Amino acid sequence: AYVVTDACIKCKYTDCVEVCPVDCFHEGPNFLAIDPDECIDCSLCVAECPVNAIYAEDDVPQGQEGFIQLNAELAKGWPTITQRADPPADHADWAQVSGKLQHLEK
Ligand code: SF4
Ligand code: F3S
Repeated sequence: AYVVTDACIKCKYTDCVEVCPVDCFHEGPNFLAIDPDECIDCSLCVAECPVNAIYAEDDVPQGQEGFIQLNAELAKGWPTITQRADPPADHADWAQVSGKLQHLEK
C-alpha cells in the first residue's frame, strides 16, 4: 500500500484524494491516512502531493516507518474524503517543517 507521511501533517492539501480510483483516503483534523486494505498501489496520488508526503510502503523514508502502522490505524477510524478541500490557513508555515508527529491530531 501507499503511505501518507510526516510532511502531510498540518498541510493537508487534499490534492491527492480526487485521483484515487478506490477512494481510500481518510480525513482527520490535520492529516490524511490511506487505508492499506483498500489501496491498489496505482501510485497516482504520489505526484499530486505538493509536499511529497506519499510513498510506497517499501520506500517510506528512514525514521518514518511508524507511519505505515499509523495510516492503517487512523484510516479505520476516520471518514472517507474524495473531494479536494481548502488546506489549513497556516499550511505554508508548515510545508518546510519536518518531524511534525507531535502535532498530529487524532
Ligand atoms: Fe489511491 Fe492509488 Fe494512492 Fe493507493 S496509490 S492511495 S489506490 S491513488
Ligand atoms: Fe496530505 Fe499531500 Fe494529500 S499534504 S492531504 S498527502 S496532497
